[in-house]
Amino acid sequence: MSKESIIDDSKPNAGRMYDYYLGGNHNFEVDRMAAEQVISLMPFAPKGARLQRWALQDIAAELTERRGFDVIIDFASGLPTNDHIHQIAPEGTTIIYSDYDPVVVEYAHDILGETPNVYYFEANAANPEALLGRPEVQKILDGKRKVGFVLWGVSAFLTDEVLAHTAKFIYDWAAPGSCLAFNAQGADLPQNPMLDRTFAIYEKMGAKFHRRSLDEFRHLLKPWKVDQDFVSLLEWHGFDESELAKEDLEMIGPLAGGFGAYLVK
Ligand SMILES: C[S@@+](CC[C@H](N)C(=O)[O-])C[C@H]1O[C@@H](n2cnc3c(N)ncnc32)[C@H](O)[C@@H]1O
Repeated sequence: MSKESIIDDSKPNAGRMYDYYLGGNHNFEVDRMAAEQVISLMPFAPKGARLQRWALQDIAAELTERRGFDVIIDFASGLPTNDHIHQIAPEGTTIIYSDYDPVVVEYAHDILGETPNVYYFEANAANPEALLGRPEVQKILDGKRKVGFVLWGVSAFLTDEVLAHTAKFIYDWAAPGSCLAFNAQGADLPQNPMLDRTFAIYEKMGAKFHRRSLDEFRHLLKPWKVDQDFVSLLEWHGFDESELAKEDLEMIGPLAGGFGAYLVK
């Protein structure tokens, strides 16, 4: 996404449109109009967004309660509303959220207020060295590098080069035993004219959608190791498909479900 479209509230922004799909109120008229255009093409878009957020909640529990991480570093976090990681992770978990959209960061600070151990920084996932190298972040981590990373709901908007760099940088930075919860967004999407029209809306606002196969994702994420294989979000651990209508399953399944996996070092 271009910097101009992020700070200009006269143009729609993908992050704020996502907030609108989730029923949030941190969006502008221009975002709602573009989001409604997408919904008219793909009526299941809000349910697809809620599915992605639901899986993120499960990840919060997996990384903390089941895998034992007490520090989570999340890239491209979006708004930390009450369905985000810090609401699920046990008290005392340190959560470092980040997003490159200054408007999202400002809203995020309002939402979080003084929530203990939860931080939110402006940072580009394309440049993880900037977030991890920030003096405030180094102070919070106090030398700790065995952490749970999250890169969820953003990978389709990163180029191959950026994705490979981000994955490799955090792998090299992290201590052995670290984990990355990764969403292979839009992997293996079929050709579909509605999708093409939707992607054109996003591309016009500077958010180009990159189509990839799961194999291409696997290659770009090296040297992380996939712990178990990628799982479709519709089959995500514990997700009950009866939550969605048959028509939603038929559309979300092939078109928008995406895949997720835990990658380990
Ligand atoms: C679809 S939301 C995903 C939010 C959250 N991770 C989730 O899965 O619910 C995408 C967010 O990624 C942010 N974003 C997009 N590209 C980014 C980048 N290169 N670096 C940091 N944030 C980015 C947008 O501003 C937006 O808030």
